[in-house]
Amino acid sequence: MYPKIVINTKKYRHNLKKLLNISHNKGITIMGVSKVFCADHNLIQVLIEENVDYIADSRIENLENISTNIPKVLLRIASFCDAERIVLNSDISLNSELKTIRRLDSFSKKHKIKHGVIIMIDLGDLREGIFEKSEIFEIIKNIIEYDNIDLKGIGTNLTCFGGVIPTVDTLKRLADIKSDIEEQFSISLDIVSGGNSSSIDLLIQGDIPSGINNLRLGESIVLGRETANGCLIEDTYSDVFTLEAEIIELKDKPSMPIGKIGMNAFGKKPIFIDKGNMKRAILAVGKQDVDHNELIPFDSIDIIGSSSDHIIVDVTNSANTYEIGDIIKFKLTYSSILSLMTSKYVSKYYE
Ligand SMILES: Cc1ncc(COP(=O)(O)O)c(C=O)c1O
Repeated sequence: MYPKIVINTKKYRHNLKKLLNISHNKGITIMGVSKVFCADHNLIQVLIEENVDYIADSRIENLENISTNIPKVLLRIASFCDAERIVLNSDISLNSELKTIRRLDSFSKKHKIKHGVIIMIDLGDLREGIFEKSEIFEIIKNIIEYDNIDLKGIGTNLTCFGGVIPTVDTLKRLADIKSDIEEQFSISLDIVSGGNSSSIDLLIQGDIPSGINNLRLGESIVLGRETANGCLIEDTYSDVFTLEAEIIELKDKPSMPIGKIGMNAFGKKPIFIDKGNMKRAILAVGKQDVDHNELIPFDSIDIIGSSSDHIIVDVTNSANTYEIGDIIKFKLTYSSILSLMTSKYVSKYYE
């Protein structure tokens, strides 16, 4: 069945093992992040078999479907309305709001369990986390009194919203905050989570400051690349996921539409360049599944555009002689993996 996303579990395992090795050799634990592949069961199985330290996902729905003894971490800031579901389906959640933590505590009490909490600190990327140092101490002063909340540690997230790259100095600030908390409250924090795949360069160079002992990795395992500069990581695969789509129409047509141009199906006025006649193929996959700008063809074809259910490609310069029913293959980016894995119209095939 096409469109098909082909998932090479061997390559995923290879990338995972490589990053686990590097991290563990430097005393850093890894949260394997499963959100980009919607916690696909076969890939979760690889995380479990390779004994990743934690499994992390931003959606509680995904964590609900994972059954393992490995600690499960909710990556998105815990939501007030989901508090009961969170304590029942994750061992640890990321938090920055006292009101929500109080609710996590009361549902943990109700179910006679303890829930682990990592307090997120915003070091400048300006997405989640506490920004003011005084608020960090205030929140910790409160939560260490909660019987059913286990303060696991602190964390930060960088290169997500503001594009801020982790540096030794930035991460040292997190390590310093950890020391200050431990000193002020006479406690010790198990986890200091220093970011995501954008910290890979620092990790490989051995520059993660002491005190930081965890990273949360998604893209680097899935695409074999660090995300501070987008460079490939040596000896990893960037094609764990590929897309295969079927040609359902193949015709010689002009490159310019004929007639007065108004809006396209998405309310935008399209602009075209006249390249004369071309061999145009329509693929049975569309915007409902993926943004065509996030596909990288293996063959020398040009992606012209897409509508909800169709992607139109120019195959004029291809060395292949395509026919109806043939398949065109694409390499994928982070965002195309995310949307293709989310689309119920795309079948999954494992290698
Ligand atoms: C809080 C948090 N940490 C870590 C990650 C993993 O990021 P990356 O895929 O860049 O490793 C994400 C995103 O998935 C996230 O939202």
